[in-house]
Amino acid sequence: MKTKTTVVEYELEAGAFDWPIAPHKTVRAWGFNQQLPGPVLKAKRGDTLVIKFRNELPEPTLIHWHGIRLAAPMDGTGEVQQPVGPGEEFEYRFVVPDAGTFWYHSHANETVQMERGMYGALIVEDEADPVTDADRVMLIDDMKLTADQQFSEPGWFLPRIIERHDGREGDTLLINGKEQPTIEIHAGQVERWRFINASSARYVVLYLGGKEFRIIGTDGGLLEQPRTVTEVLITPGERLDILAGPFQKGETFAIESLPYDRTTFLKAKRRTLATVQVREPKPSVAFIPDSLRTIVPLAPPDAAVTRKIKFAVGPSWKNGMDFLVNEGTHTQDEPVRVGQLQVWEVSNASLMDHPFHLHGFFFQVLEENGQAPAYRAWKDTYNLKPRTTVKIAWMPDNRPGKWMYHCHILEHHAAGMMAHFEVVNDADPAHETAHSLHPGCR
Ligand code: C2O
Ligand code: CU
Ligand code: CU
Repeated sequence: MKTKTTVVEYELEAGAFDWPIAPHKTVRAWGFNQQLPGPVLKAKRGDTLVIKFRNELPEPTLIHWHGIRLAAPMDGTGEVQQPVGPGEEFEYRFVVPDAGTFWYHSHANETVQMERGMYGALIVEDEADPVTDADRVMLIDDMKLTADQQFSEPGWFLPRIIERHDGREGDTLLINGKEQPTIEIHAGQVERWRFINASSARYVVLYLGGKEFRIIGTDGGLLEQPRTVTEVLITPGERLDILAGPFQKGETFAIESLPYDRTTFLKAKRRTLATVQVREPKPSVAFIPDSLRTIVPLAPPDAAVTRKIKFAVGPSWKNGMDFLVNEGTHTQDEPVRVGQLQVWEVSNASLMDHPFHLHGFFFQVLEENGQAPAYRAWKDTYNLKPRTTVKIAWMPDNRPGKWMYHCHILEHHAAGMMAHFEVVNDADPAHETAHSLHPGCR
């Protein structure tokens, strides 16, 4: 137990502002502190974060802290918090118990608010982090803009149906709020790049011109060992930390997204996100151990399933189609009990991909279509491929309250592809709720 907690304070103000995404290309963004993305919030593992929030938008909003294992009332969803109205304030306060790459985003009217920029990174550092020469957030988004840089809302019935079906993909790809930026790195150095996919629906297959890079972390922090790859999928909501470099002086390459067909009808294209230029060499202080940490398995692959969840898409008279969890929209699930290991079989009966996101808790994937995964990781968002069954395990620790899971394609979430459930503590409900709300004493 920590004896002294450090309190880290930030002020965030949501509002509308003009933001240049490229020279001579300005959008009317909605975001935090007049920046797109919002400021990078930083803390050390175990710190208490206090965020004084003020809403200057013309409509109510909420902030969700994606990936943080906080107390339910701080989760920023409509189930646990009254939306913060225009001109109103709210103070979020929670401990950050895990190191890694997290993010914050609006959890109200998301298809509008997030599309316009209501998101930012939240980085939690730890002494056990590998030493690198630089640490950068790479927050990916895409905007769907009209020719005069307005956010385009599909007005007609058919485009609306298509957007609801496929999710909104925009042609304007952004890294940290900029279109096609140039990123400079010194030869010989190794940088940690923390990718966050904040787009509504775009699947990014990260590719660095065929160069190898090392994955060191995902949603819930470091992996056990670095994994060397040349490409990797990052779905909306997911995070991925990589080591980039060392590169040679004079090299130039693009950060790209390779095509990924996530629905039968939408043909994905290869897209460029940024250009990397390698400058004159600088000595490196990077130290990357072979073993980054240990991830203790929560359950064996053949653990008995405690709950079955089905994501599906069904026809509907009113909307053309419905996005369903367990045959319903905005489903209410059975409660979950503190301390009882959850083994969920999550299946995707539809013909398109869905990034499954669980609020407030990390899970481990035990099996995918009967196959154990190649490596262990803590996840809060995991892609469900069409006609696939994934078995996950997670432990409801003592944070009772209302939680949810949903598809992180924002249009699917809005169309009802989500479920609520409650974590209950039978032993001592009243005391434990108060206890878990009190930072520093768990
Ligand atoms: Cu980033 Cu409810 O999600
Ligand atoms: Cu979340
Ligand atoms: Cu979906």
